[in-house]
Amino acid sequence: MVKSLKIVITGASGFIAKNLRKHLSEKNIELLSISRNDFKIFKCESKIISANYDEKNLLKKINNSDALIHLVGIGKQSVNTDYDMINTKLTNHIVQLSKKAKIKKIVYLSGLGVSSNTSLSYFISKYNAEKQIINSGLNYTIFRPSYIVGKDDLFTKYLKKQMKKGEIKIPGSGKYSIQPIYVNDVVRVIFESITELKFKNKIIDLVGPDSVTFEEYVKLFSKRNKTRIKKINLERAYHEAITHSKSDFGIDDLNILIGDFKGNYKKLSEISKIQFQSVLKLLQTCSLL
Ligand SMILES: NC(=O)c1ccc[n+]([C@@H]2O[C@H](COP(=O)([O-])OP(=O)(O)OC[C@H]3O[C@@H](n4cnc5c(N)ncnc54)[C@H](OP(=O)(O)O)[C@@H]3O)[C@@H](O)[C@H]2O)c1
Repeated sequence: MVKSLKIVITGASGFIAKNLRKHLSEKNIELLSISRNDFKIFKCESKIISANYDEKNLLKKINNSDALIHLVGIGKQSVNTDYDMINTKLTNHIVQLSKKAKIKKIVYLSGLGVSSNTSLSYFISKYNAEKQIINSGLNYTIFRPSYIVGKDDLFTKYLKKQMKKGEIKIPGSGKYSIQPIYVNDVVRVIFESITELKFKNKIIDLVGPDSVTFEEYVKLFSKRNKTRIKKINLERAYHEAITHSKSDFGIDDLNILIGDFKGNYKKLSEISKIQFQSVLKLLQTCSLL
């Protein structure tokens, strides 16, 4: 039982935040969770509702916390909210706030495929956020995740929805690969990154032990339900994404899939003491359905 830690979490109602808050609360860690909207709290948790993370409302409350885990992020843009505004500028604001509040450590979830060579605006916004954190002088750990899966992540929800309709669509060949990682492992490694010194000032890919093509993943996911799998023309998939803001695959969802980015699982497993679950095995036992 870790009693003395006080941890701030931003984007508290998001998928990873919910799983992380539950995990940390079970360890009796004092949590200060910030969200734009009301939400149900766990044991040892205080909630802060803030529409824009304004300093006046937050500074006193988060002062001297042991860590801040920044889980605000968007993967789709609109005329009201774009990547630069949320992924970069809001991160910069959180970094400045963390410095003022003398927070000892910041943990950030960037994205697998982020690099100085990228030309995608989503990755550029995450790269610029990483730079703000690295240059802040704060103790940091930046994770670059592939698909983080559980029972209710967007990716799994999408596949379940399609399965219910009796047909899962695969954009293009489906031969591009993903390295899914189980959310229960993700929350454990995030916690380790706060408590273990070896994570200090590191950028680490957050990928699971299996590298699998999207087609293989979908086949395994839908095996028991005998769902039809339909490959759709990539041009059609992009056209749908460009012309319909609510299409299942957004433009950057497609870019990330087709990008076929590979992460360094060996580095992650060496630095953490975690025995990472194989998501493929979880699928075989239907644990994600
Ligand atoms: N899930 C994955 O597989 C994956 C993979 C790579 C990277 N990541 C990164 O990990 C982080 C968390 O991901 P997630 O899957 O938990 O995403 P999520 O469920 O979409 O949660 C993100 C949270 O960000 C906050 N947010 C969104 N738009 C905002 C805005 N305009 N202003 C202020 N806050 C806003 C919301 O928190 P409130 O509603 O509580 O305000 C939202 O719940 C993100 O940065 C994401 O890019 C996730």
